[in-house]
Amino acid sequence: MRKRIPTSATRIGMYVDGFDSSWFKTPFLKHHFEIKSQNQLDKILQSGIDHLYIDTEKGLDVLSDEEIYPAPTRSTPKKTAELPGKPVNNPHKQDEKAFMDYIKAINELLQIDKLCLVESTAVDFDLFVKIDMNIIPLSLPRNKKGSSVITKELLASPGDLLISRCDVQKYRNYLTMIAKDSGSTQSLASKNMLIKENARILIRELFDDHGSHEKVEACKDSVENIMSSIIDTKGLITNLFTVDKHDYYVYTHSVNVSVFCVATAFAMGIKSEADLFAIGLGSLLHDIGMITLPPEVLHKPHQRLTDFETDLLKGHIFEGLDIINLYNGIPPDTMFPLIEHHENLMGTGYPMGLKGDKLHLSGKIISITNTYDTLTTSRPGFQAVSPYEALAYLRDHNSLYDADILKEFISVLGKSSQ
Ligand SMILES: [Fe+2]
Repeated sequence: MRKRIPTSATRIGMYVDGFDSSWFKTPFLKHHFEIKSQNQLDKILQSGIDHLYIDTEKGLDVLSDEEIYPAPTRSTPKKTAELPGKPVNNPHKQDEKAFMDYIKAINELLQIDKLCLVESTAVDFDLFVKIDMNIIPLSLPRNKKGSSVITKELLASPGDLLISRCDVQKYRNYLTMIAKDSGSTQSLASKNMLIKENARILIRELFDDHGSHEKVEACKDSVENIMSSIIDTKGLITNLFTVDKHDYYVYTHSVNVSVFCVATAFAMGIKSEADLFAIGLGSLLHDIGMITLPPEVLHKPHQRLTDFETDLLKGHIFEGLDIINLYNGIPPDTMFPLIEHHENLMGTGYPMGLKGDKLHLSGKIISITNTYDTLTTSRPGFQAVSPYEALAYLRDHNSLYDADILKEFISVLGKSSQ
């Protein structure tokens, strides 16, 4: 179908079927072509042409008709509802240099789930504990071979455990060894733990190297593994998500939200693997646009962001779209969780303020799971609320969040409590 669209809604993968402008005013010799690169897209966006035509049988369509009438409001997102949780004193205010040093250090580390470590086993990687902004190397007892040994005290200690990024492969080997040692009838808990930790490592690696098609493919495999586990267990997500976290790590959040979305969709009766895969992958990648933010904005307490920085943060939606448009073999429905995860039923979300039925089903699901995981995670300037309080907030705001979907999400959490 030939469609006239605003130039701002153009994206890679569309087939241009003419410009709504004189031939001489366009930067292209041909007016019928598929947009295959960022370079072509930039030329179109910077051409000064208001509208063009696309052929939706030869290429991608617009993401939703809202993109055509009216055009999305990138720079003036509407105010979102006030969230529960207690703003806390900003520890960063006291020492900007310490904050920058902390950001530098945290970027070299990977948070691991303490539940994956088994008491008395040996590890050949260094461990660090993070309490607030303090990152402390741990000194563990050694066995005869000189390897560090996991102790009961370590497993009971407060704070997040971290490893150095250069030890990721050693950590993977450790997880594989633990899973094997759990016997030929590998328990669901250790199997899911392995799936989850691998997914977190992969998404972290993709964020560091978002141009790697190999890593994108590995992330797709991770989504398949998450899906298979949920389908095989008829909806159980025990150990597929991280509960024990004391700070916001975008990779941990991404995997949690993806698991919640797939399980909720499954509980709602969506059994098509293609549909589950699209929502799983879209929700795994929903915050990929965050990688374009300066780290100091990403880690800054939201209440301290300037208007400019807030706009920059909200721009992670379109940045994310630009990134995933570069990937091959991404199902078109993958876009919906990414573009709609900050929308809500009232139309007071961003970036487009989509309302009610204008939201895709996966958008309605992720608006719930994304809010839940955000509320239950502490971050600089925000003290997490309990799962119960987060669910009460979602239930009390039924004008924003779909009550039937929320019911299914609660049942998923209920039968998988860890
Ligand atoms: Fe987001």
